[in-house]
Parts: sequence; C-alpha cells; structure tokens
Amino acid sequence: MPKLASYNGKVDSIENIKVSPMSRAFLFSDSVYEVISFYKNKFIDFETHLDRLNHSLNETKISCSIEDCKTEIVKLLNESKFEDGYIYFQVSRGVDSIRSHFFEESDCERFGFVEEFSFFNQSPLKVMLVDDIRWKRCDIKSTSLLGNVLQMNDAKSAGCNEILMHRNGELTEGGASNIFFVKDMTIFTPELSPNILPGITRHQVIKIIKDKKLNFEEGSYGIDDLKEASSIWFTSTTKGIIGVEKIVNLETKINPECELLEICKNAFVKKYFS
Ligand code: PDD
Repeated sequence: MPKLASYNGKVDSIENIKVSPMSRAFLFSDSVYEVISFYKNKFIDFETHLDRLNHSLNETKISCSIEDCKTEIVKLLNESKFEDGYIYFQVSRGVDSIRSHFFEESDCERFGFVEEFSFFNQSPLKVMLVDDIRWKRCDIKSTSLLGNVLQMNDAKSAGCNEILMHRNGELTEGGASNIFFVKDMTIFTPELSPNILPGITRHQVIKIIKDKKLNFEEGSYGIDDLKEASSIWFTSTTKGIIGVEKIVNLETKINPECELLEICKNAFVKKYFS
C-alpha cells in the first residue's frame, strides 16, 4: 500500500504528490526535519519535537508557522490507520525561480509522511567508530545528512548498522542517535554542544537516570573512555534505548548484560510504551 503523505497541508497518497525540482530542499538540502513517534495513536513528546523544529527553523531563518506544521502532523496521524509508528516531517525554504545560494523571503514548503513501525524487539547494534566529518551546526536537525550517510554506508559494508562518531578523538554521537556509556557504575553522555543533536530520547533517558538517582555525568569524553566502558547505548526516537553488541574497529570491555541499561530500558518502556 502506498504511504500516506502530506504536502503543504494536503494529505494524499505519496504517489500523487508532485514537488518542483526548483525546491530548495531538492537543490540545496535547504530544509529541516523531525521524526516523531506515536504509540497507540498518541504522539510521544509531541510538544518537545515541535519546539526543536522551531529551533531548527529559527537557526536556518526559514519562516514557517509552527502551528501549520502541528496541524498537518496531527492530520497525518488521524488519517493513517496505524496504531504505532512515526511521522517524518520536513520544512524547506520553498521553491526558487533561479538556483541561487542567496535566498529571498519565500513561502516555505512542508512535506511529511507516516510510517508504521514497531518499537520492540530491536537487536543490539554493531557499530563502527568513525571520524565525524559533518558541519559545525549539528544541533540543527537539517536534512543535509551527507556526512552521516557516507560514514554509515562505509560501516554497513563492514556489517554494521550504526556508527559512533568522534571529532579529533572527542566522542560526539551516532549517525542517527545519541550515545551513552557506562564506566565504573556511572552513566556518561557527551554534553550538549553545536556538535550534537539535542536528542529528545536522550533528554527522556537523562530524566529517568536522574529520577532513579543513578550516577550520571555529562561532559567531554574520548575514545579511551570507550575502551574502558562496560556498556554502550544509543538512543533515538525510532530506536528507543539500544545496547551495543560490538564496536568492530575498537577493543572494548562491553558486557551485553548491563544492569543499568536494563533499569533505564524498563523505566523507558513503562513511561512511554504502556
Ligand atoms: N534521528 N543524533 C542524530 C544525528 C539523529 O539523526 C537523531 C535522530 C538523534 C536522536 O534524536 P531523537 O532522540 O530526538 O530522535 C541524535 C532520527 C530518528 C532520524 O533521522 O531518523
């Protein structure tokens, strides 16, 4: 069955949606996006995703009403028959008459689709440690993802399904997720900076860690910290919290049975998926 999609407010089968090749999303990747999950027909942390979309729009100077985005995302969910899944929603600067790096005030272009998805029974990840070759504003959820895409596909050739990036030895994040690791019964995660996306699942997991009064630190960490880690986790809207089975190009001490991971996973499922 073709996907259900929305283009500038009109919901239709994805096959009927026509986008101009002069769209700045197509020509420049001049667009930002969100991935918002829903479970039993209810969005998870909808307002937080809208706030982050607004941040991305402001930082890229794309003018678009967040209320229009909200209405269209809700409409997509309501018109889909799915109970569990996610909505992809992107906003571009719109269509240009000429392909110019210099943009002018224009009508934004909104596009989204809904996908059915089961959040459970995802397998532990096989990961490759790679150089973070992305730009310096990774806090913006931009559709310009070539840095992630190239590194993730190199990792795929080595049998991996995620990457763990570092910038000059400093750990940043996954290709499409944030990272946590455990060392000496303390949970660590890289602090927020322009080098990482402020993940909404990351934020949810930190709240759980604090509620459970587990030892926790946010800061700047390097590859040597990973070598000493007893457990490494990735978090994202579609992954939830998933442990790492192996880093293919780094010797580590990871043990798949991690008590702290189980505590956080159970609390996460209880809070958002029950
Ligand atoms: N990606 N870091 C990056 C680079 C990401 O692309 C994502 C999410 C995250 C986690 O953010 P959140 O917990 O808010 O989903 C971190 C989405 C799911 C994607 O691009 O498909």
